[in-house]
Amino acid sequence: MAILVTGGAGYIGSHTVKDLIRQEKEVIVLDNLQNGHRQAVDKDKLIIGDISDRKLVTRIIKEFGITSVIHFAADSIVGESMINPSKYYNNNVIKTINLLDTMIENNVKTIVFSSTAAVYGEPDVMPITEYVRTNPTNVYGRTKLMIENILQDYERAYELRYIALRYFNAAGADESGKIGEGHNPETHLIPLVLFTALGKREKILIFGDDYNTPDGTCIRDYVHVSDLAQAHILALNALEQGYKSSVYNLGNGNGFSVKEVIEAAERVTGVKINKEVVNRRPGDPAVLVACSEKIKKELGWQPLYTSLDKIIETAWKWYLQKNS
Ligand code: UFG
Repeated sequence: MAILVTGGAGYIGSHTVKDLIRQEKEVIVLDNLQNGHRQAVDKDKLIIGDISDRKLVTRIIKEFGITSVIHFAADSIVGESMINPSKYYNNNVIKTINLLDTMIENNVKTIVFSSTAAVYGEPDVMPITEYVRTNPTNVYGRTKLMIENILQDYERAYELRYIALRYFNAAGADESGKIGEGHNPETHLIPLVLFTALGKREKILIFGDDYNTPDGTCIRDYVHVSDLAQAHILALNALEQGYKSSVYNLGNGNGFSVKEVIEAAERVTGVKINKEVVNRRPGDPAVLVACSEKIKKELGWQPLYTSLDKIIETAWKWYLQKNS
């Protein structure tokens, strides 16, 4: 019994792989290293290749006795998805169909799928439960919702069972300081704020302070990457125990504004962070906060990092270690 983790050299993938190994699960990572990092995974666990390579995936399934898949491999930059939708529909949707077909062909019928809060778009109900209407406002979110729909159809037709995890804002790094966030280009708030604290950027740009929120800046729900990893393992175990397919939100249920994130980073780093308010970034919803009661109740998920300062502290440790 072994687990295939696609995109396991990426940010959330590598943290999940680390936890799977800690729990003595047999793991094989398949990553084409377009977004992932070779050094984020033990080299004896990593196969460099593409999820759409059906021969390769078939060989991996047979050789390692794969029984389930955790599927992270994807492109995930919202802005890029609007400029280059073809890349997103091809890499996210079409390649996932290839992966699913290869799984079905080889009788692998359980999958944990990496989805996103972007499937909701800009709901006016807060916090967001899984029952809120999905209405993505960007191509990235649409690709993830399309895959969720495909999973439903494959369940009906081929008895595939799946759990889709809709992450809110993933943040932080493994306590070891050995793996962490490393996007290229980096577009996320917490890394960019910490790069500013490190002196690698002159200032952090605040995208709009005229939103309908208490301090005018956007509010997000930051969830620690190790808590996301824990959720994947709970989902995997649930599927292995025969649970039915489901969709779960993953967030802390607390919203923090961009200004609050910068203040927290100042507390954690002890550095005064230069900032400048600029225009809104197109497509940013004012507030996104999750209700994650469903996964807590059904799978027993308990996030360990409920404090924003603590989340930022782990990210800071990672960047300090990387830059030392
Ligand atoms: N922000 C800034 N300045 C920056 C970067 C971000 O002010 O330099 C603001 C954004 O406008 C937003 C908040 O900080 O209000 C968080 O932005 P991120 O880019 O860190 O994250 P997003 O909320 O835009 O996106 C995240 C994930 C996406 C996912 C989305 C779901 O990164 O993959 O949540 O809503 F689709």
